[in-house]
Amino acid sequence: MTQKKAENKKENCNSVTKVESKVQSVGILCSGGDAPGMNCVIRAVVRTAIAMGIKPVGIRRGWKGLLEGDFINLDASSVGNIMQKGGTILQTSRCKEFHDPEIRKEAANILRRKKVDALIVCGGNGSFNGAWLLHKEQGIPVVGIPGTIDNDISGTDYTVGFDTAVTTAMEAVDKIRDTAHSHERTFIIEVMGRKSPAIALHVGICSGAENIVFPNDNINFDDIYSDIKRGMDRGKQSSIIIVAEGETPGLCYEIKQKLEEKYGVASHICTLGHIQRGGSPTALDRFRASRMGYHSVKWLMEGEQAVVTGYVNGSIKMVPLDECLENKKEYEKPYLEMIKVLAI
Ligand code: F6P
Repeated sequence: MTQKKAENKKENCNSVTKVESKVQSVGILCSGGDAPGMNCVIRAVVRTAIAMGIKPVGIRRGWKGLLEGDFINLDASSVGNIMQKGGTILQTSRCKEFHDPEIRKEAANILRRKKVDALIVCGGNGSFNGAWLLHKEQGIPVVGIPGTIDNDISGTDYTVGFDTAVTTAMEAVDKIRDTAHSHERTFIIEVMGRKSPAIALHVGICSGAENIVFPNDNINFDDIYSDIKRGMDRGKQSSIIIVAEGETPGLCYEIKQKLEEKYGVASHICTLGHIQRGGSPTALDRFRASRMGYHSVKWLMEGEQAVVTGYVNGSIKMVPLDECLENKKEYEKPYLEMIKVLAI
């Protein structure tokens, strides 16, 4: 092996623990909010497992389905013709019970009884936390595949579904821009992201929004107004304000009210909501999801115990699972300056 190859290998194998693999069957489940591209992950996991001589087992409806023993055998044909479909054929759930260590112990026993040796979990931060604890407490080998439209997982630049969600929201904003222009209106548009401003940031840039509002920052209404006014003064016929959903509903209404009362600017509100979670995945989501599924199975077979298949600086990268959970992902603040410049 050349030195360069050895270095690359080292860079790709920085996980905390690695043992000789005894994996003969692998479970795959989706957990948390669904994301376009999850079906590409499932297809890649199932077919890679079969190619490597191990048995793939589908676990339906996330941790909830695991606890109910809702398992299905999957073969190469059962994942045919699913890549282009939104949602997840395995379905998913949010499962509060999984916060209880006794419940996780029960989950591990079910996996052992069903002879599932390792688990691939496609989901977000909450799902990864469950996977990490299942490994730490019960010794089940786990690999996490970042799957959430929010792109808010630390240790990876990208999560499956983000590109499709941004594209869907951007296309919707384009349509709103058409009518906003015809009627010379201001629209306040809420995009998804309870804890993450990533969709708002990207949709705002891609749709030329006049301002992007993140709920947890101090909201400067004067600033929002001056961005609208500057545009109007130079002849703009419409204004779009993108608002990240945040954890407390109602921010759009607050902005609408302030704009009207303080500055006499009338506006309309549009909440894009769950359309952002559905639909056929983009090529980018399909491509990366397929690669992530493939590498996840390979890494389990190489004896990895608790890693995430991340995407960093344009490459697939193995990241220790606990490292992803330790940090909160910072959003791309440097873009904020650019947004201001591009919206003048
Ligand atoms: O999956 C992430 C996400 O879509 C967030 O952007 C959003 O805040 C949340 O899930 C909505 O979850 P639910 O569909 O369970 O209400």
